[in-house]
Amino acid sequence: MIAANWKLHHTAETGAALARGVVDEVLPWLGERGGAEAVRVVLCPPFTALHAVAAALAGSPLDLGAQDVFWEDWGAYTGEVSAPMLVAAGCRYVIVGHSERRHLLGETDEAVARKARAAAGHGLVPIVCVGETLAQREAGRTEQVVLGQLAPVAESLVAGGGPPLVAIAYEPVWAIGTGRPARGADAQAVAAAIRDRLVAAWGDAGASVPVLYGGSVKPENAAEFLRQPDIDGALVGGASLDPAAFAGVVRAVDDTEGEA
Ligand code: PGA
Repeated sequence: MIAANWKLHHTAETGAALARGVVDEVLPWLGERGGAEAVRVVLCPPFTALHAVAAALAGSPLDLGAQDVFWEDWGAYTGEVSAPMLVAAGCRYVIVGHSERRHLLGETDEAVARKARAAAGHGLVPIVCVGETLAQREAGRTEQVVLGQLAPVAESLVAGGGPPLVAIAYEPVWAIGTGRPARGADAQAVAAAIRDRLVAAWGDAGASVPVLYGGSVKPENAAEFLRQPDIDGALVGGASLDPAAFAGVVRAVDDTEGEA
């Protein structure tokens, strides 16, 4: 899965143009690969661009996602947007717990878990972001922090017949938007710890939950992450705003064939 996090960029009009650009870049390659079953490509624009981007993606195998969701469906919650609203807008995915929301807006692990549960309850796949700060990494607390963020999510989602509807994005805070990605082996080590926790929570079903890496992913470095055994995709910020760069990340899947 390769997901684009546009963050606070693009209006409906400019977002639709970007989405069309991405479709033009990615579609021929996806076609050769057998379509969306081979690689899920997800665009997550701001709320106000969802409808326009949904229209731009209509008929293509690319999927739509939002960048946040509230845990209640309806009611007196000024400013919030709910899972049923996102489903009606054409979303199949929603990012929850991005570090910018955790750190700038004070979102707690519990709030993130409630959002993930609400999303999954409506058939949306929450892409739950976890990751340590530089100070936490330097203090040797990376796994403790990441697994602590994951715990309420693992406890609040249940595996039914298959894996729970969720993807996890490991995004070290110090790598986001800095041009300083993690090393592939370091990202793999954390992804493996995440995988172990998912398997502990959900048994075999936990093994098939997608674990993504995010943080300064570019066409040049994407394959280093995608070839790691416990990394199944990427969450892309800055590079997703340029159709050619984002398509370059998607096509990096080609450079991981047969490698472990
Ligand atoms: P970046 O952002 O690719 O610009 O580092 C990633 C993210 O925040 O999801």
